[in-house]
Amino acid sequence: MSFLELNNVHKGFGPANARTEVLRDIELRIEEGEFVAIVGYSGAGKTTLISLVAGLIRPDMGKVKLKGVEITEPGPDRGVVFQNYSLLPWLTVFENIQLAVDQVFPKWSEEQKRAHIDKYIATVNLTPAREKKPSELSGGMRQRVSVARALATEPQILLLDEPLGALDALTRATLQDEIVRIWEQDKRTVVMITNDVDEGIMMADRIVPLSAGPNATLGPSVAVNIPRPRDRKAINHDPEYKEVRRQVIGYLLGEGGKQRTAVSRKLILPDLLPEDLSEPRTLYGTKRKPRRRSETKREQVEVEA
Ligand SMILES: Nc1ncnc2c1ncn2[C@@H]1O[C@H](COP(=O)(O)OP(=O)(O)OP(=O)(O)O)[C@@H](O)[C@H]1O
Ligand SMILES: [Mg+2]
Repeated sequence: MSFLELNNVHKGFGPANARTEVLRDIELRIEEGEFVAIVGYSGAGKTTLISLVAGLIRPDMGKVKLKGVEITEPGPDRGVVFQNYSLLPWLTVFENIQLAVDQVFPKWSEEQKRAHIDKYIATVNLTPAREKKPSELSGGMRQRVSVARALATEPQILLLDEPLGALDALTRATLQDEIVRIWEQDKRTVVMITNDVDEGIMMADRIVPLSAGPNATLGPSVAVNIPRPRDRKAINHDPEYKEVRRQVIGYLLGEGGKQRTAVSRKLILPDLLPEDLSEPRTLYGTKRKPRRRSETKREQVEVEA
């Protein structure tokens, strides 16, 4: 049994007659303490995948399990950093984190909570911005608040949905290093969504590509066996880096880049039924006749666009 398991997970949206299958046959196993990056096309279903693990939505088919227990709703064992930071604009940095901490640790004293929140604000280097509101912060700072809020609830697994998406290259690199440092400090399990293969190679133990949608599925995992700490400048010349990149991009541009659409196709079945040998050859003196059926059936088939 793995720490996190997705078995044969399918998820679509929309009414039955106009349904879009977003994810199909998702198989994923993640071990405790692992840092896994999922890399995929925009719109393929990455947020949908994170939402399934977060318990915000349920799969149409298959199971999502954490430590062998099926996930059916959100819980404090999973900390999520959403793509759009989702901070409350009328609360300060401290208060935004406090809201989450109050929910998860209701029995703690005010003093204990304050020290805990301040520790995580310091972890993401935001102590000087402690009393600021989100509108007074840059995008990168907001993303750091969002990371601190998820960490402060001490989840068993951290789910990061493109946490660094909207940042410039320099801020992005700094935050990448911060997240890896935090992960190394207390070795929590991390699942990070990204659309940047290099970011995945810089940060993760393993990269799993997600094919293009609709009907997106996960491709073969690629292990990143580059020793840590990873040096951003040296890594470009590392043969292991080139090989991982080649495999992930190869899948995304090759097999994983083909869009699959499900179409409904009319099947015309043979019009003759086999002869029923159990019947006597003659019935009331007439000859046994072939029976006809004029019937059609529909089946769902997958085609590559
Ligand atoms: N609640 C919903 N209702 C209907 N369709 C949805 C819903 N959530 C997602 N979708 C559709 O599912 C597909 C995948 O969406 P999702 O947000 O998971 O993609 P993504 O890979 O995270 O994209 P991006 O990289 O842009 O963040 C899209 O076509 C989207 O329109
Ligand atoms: Mg998304």
